[in-house]
Amino acid sequence: MARKTTIKNDDDEAEEPVRPSFGSSAGAGNFEDPNQQRFDDELRPSKLEDIVGQMAVVERLRILLEATKKRKEPLGHLLFDGPPGLGKTTLATVIPRELGTELQITAGPSLSAPKDLLPYLTNASYGSVLFIDEIHRMPPTVEEFIYPAMEDFRIDITLGDGLNARTINMKLQPFTLIGATTRSGMLTAPLRDRFVNREHLDFYTTEELSTIISRNSQKLRTEIAPEAAHEIAIRSRGTPRKANNWLRWTRDFADARANGKITLDVARAALRMKGVDDAGLEEQDRRYLETIINVFSGGPAGVQALGHTLNIPADTLEDEVEPFLLREGFIQRTPRGRMITAKALAHLGVTSKSKTKSPRDNSDPASDQRELF
Ligand SMILES: Nc1ncnc2c1ncn2[C@@H]1O[C@H](COP(=O)(O)OP(=O)(O)OP(=O)(O)O)[C@@H](O)[C@H]1O
Ligand SMILES: [Mg+2]
Repeated sequence: MARKTTIKNDDDEAEEPVRPSFGSSAGAGNFEDPNQQRFDDELRPSKLEDIVGQMAVVERLRILLEATKKRKEPLGHLLFDGPPGLGKTTLATVIPRELGTELQITAGPSLSAPKDLLPYLTNASYGSVLFIDEIHRMPPTVEEFIYPAMEDFRIDITLGDGLNARTINMKLQPFTLIGATTRSGMLTAPLRDRFVNREHLDFYTTEELSTIISRNSQKLRTEIAPEAAHEIAIRSRGTPRKANNWLRWTRDFADARANGKITLDVARAALRMKGVDDAGLEEQDRRYLETIINVFSGGPAGVQALGHTLNIPADTLEDEVEPFLLREGFIQRTPRGRMITAKALAHLGVTSKSKTKSPRDNSDPASDQRELF
């Protein structure tokens, strides 16, 4: 059954967040966490003007939307790629709202055969948006089925088998496919090329995240000091979803341990309790870096081998852990594998010869002694 979410462009209703049903597939970053899905939806901007950051992307989208509205034609197919939690789903749901069209949502993993996609395609009205999250996880048979739908707005359905098999063509209403992926590299070239518009989302600046945190604390009716918003922003790995999650946690902490106001001290204490250090690295990141140092002598280390050692799927490392560590220069990717950098060694308090001090625990320096290379 196609899940369909109609988005009205009525101003009175514009504040109401879009709450489409994603089934279990809410995106690579939160694939199996229904709470995360609910949290995301609660704080998701509903209009383009509420989107913070990604200025170049938003500017290009504005142009596309304006041209589409003027010409009264469907928007060209659009692909968003980038690490989890940066706003792919947000932008994909804002666009139909801006255009005043309908939105249907599904995700690559729930499309196991062409018949799963069929209802979405036949239900798509003129100019409406079909959003396929995690589009890189669509099986090849579904991918091939979608090509003529994207290109010529028609589908080819084969009926019967063997000599009796015949193909019938079915015309579709021109629609817009919006795809989102954390792995654009995993998309086949023919699929990627069928998206006339492609946008890459990058990590956010501390200032942008501070703005998101301050705005959302108002939505959550919580008072937050500007320095506290800045502190949370620094530790949010350039990711709005992380910023929102830390905001929620510091708010709980402030309610339970303080007078409900998020001050700088409250924010620091709350994040310390979660093991977030001043570069925004969490336990998992530090374990990842320490594994390269201790098990692989600083690298190179293959992602599969790292995944086995850490007992974390290699996909998760590639999607959720590595992009930020790479961007911040804590690791390097070489053809032979991941290498630790001097910056990571300095951050973890490891020197290339001898003494090591973990930034979190200096109670027992002997237990942290490591010798490198
Ligand atoms: N530009 C933005 N401005 C304000 N808030 C944002 C922005 N981008 C994302 N957010 C917030 O971050 C949350 C996560 O964003 P979103 O679900 O769009 O990420 P995603 O890229 O789809 O992640 P995934 O790859 O895990 O599916 C949203 O609920 C929203 O509250
Ligand atoms: Mg998403």
